[in-house]
Amino acid sequence: MRFLLTGGAGFIGSHTCVALLNAGHEVVVLDNYYNSSPEALRRVEKITGKKVTAYEGDCCDADTVNRVLDNEKIDAAVHFAGYKAVGESVRIPLNYYENNINSAITLCRCMSAHGVKRLVFSSSATVYGEQNQPPYTEDMPRGACTNPYGWTKSMIEQILTDLVVSDPQWTVVLLRYFNPVGAHESGLIGEDPSGIPNNLMPFICQTAAGVREKLSMFGNDYPTPDGTCVRDYIHVMDLAEGHVKALEYAMQHQGTEIINLGTGEGYSVYQVVRAFEQVNHLTLRKQDAPRRAGDLPESYANASKAERLLGWHATRSLEDMCRDAWHWQQLNPHGYRE
Ligand code: NAD
Ligand code: UD1
Repeated sequence: MRFLLTGGAGFIGSHTCVALLNAGHEVVVLDNYYNSSPEALRRVEKITGKKVTAYEGDCCDADTVNRVLDNEKIDAAVHFAGYKAVGESVRIPLNYYENNINSAITLCRCMSAHGVKRLVFSSSATVYGEQNQPPYTEDMPRGACTNPYGWTKSMIEQILTDLVVSDPQWTVVLLRYFNPVGAHESGLIGEDPSGIPNNLMPFICQTAAGVREKLSMFGNDYPTPDGTCVRDYIHVMDLAEGHVKALEYAMQHQGTEIINLGTGEGYSVYQVVRAFEQVNHLTLRKQDAPRRAGDLPESYANASKAERLLGWHATRSLEDMCRDAWHWQQLNPHGYRE
């Protein structure tokens, strides 16, 4: 099969390229490199020994998307493209609504016009909001999001669901990711945040590397076993392999399906820090710090639907995530920049 990956040069997209190519599929990437580098795709080719067809362009631009679909025979698409920084989305919400929602609508319009009606969408566990209690199951109603980024995911889920109702030829798989971390085992591709990382694992890696002075662990008085927040961290290669299964599923089914991609296991901030120190034989400079606004005490998946529908479950451990994240950081202290 031949799949279009919008945002395919990004963190999750590049790892999904590897998983798809390793599974014998072909990939076509459309990315404007707003938050990524074409170097990631060269590394994908190095890892797999296979070719990535890449287009530089904006997914909000219908002419660009149509050109790709005119040139390439595409069986289905994964829509990774979007902005994802939660704090930034609070400061510049219009940019987030504009880019995330327009890119999704433009892509769907162009796909429809080309008769390509199978789509996998990168959603987030953030759509469960504050009302639901973990473990989250896909049949829970979406909750109120705490930031514009989360709302874009919730709104796009609704838009795609309505699209399938209007035209039953469409197949849409809404993948709700939990907390993707780690890197490909080779250390050639990984997460390359610009500026100061917001997320825990990249901050830990940069602290270990001496780029950041100290890790602040936000909040130690939550109603959790050790007082720090619990998350469902998932190795990005497990997540990538979940996309292979989701695309293969989308090729054989119709309708809308929501699927959690998590491990089903929650780890606290202290547990992640300890695992990182132990597996990598180092000690992090760290301190307890006040709670971060908007953080929920606990978030983890019920991962049984993915197992049932896709025959997929995560196989890599927290130790694997910590080892591979650090391996990537050591080999690429400046990310994809020389
Ligand atoms: P990323 O920023 O590394 O990748 C997104 C890619 O999309 C980048 O390469 C960027 O250049 C590209 N892009 C953005 N806008 C574009 C546009 N208009 N046209 C073309 N390309 C565009 O992010 P990621 O971590 O790989 O996340 C991929 C998707 O998964 C995003 O939609 C994100 O919101 C979602 N998601 C990520 C996480 C996470 O923790 N990383 C969690 C849940 C959901
Ligand atoms: C955050 C976003 C979420 C997004 C996800 C993946 C918020 C409120 N949520 O989730 O919408 O889908 O990233 O991109 O921003 N932590 C520290 N110190 C740090 C960084 C994080 O202690 O320097 C803690 C956080 O308080 C949290 C845990 O580590 O308890 C995980 O944080 P993070 O990696 O940012 O992910 P989420 O908050 O789960």
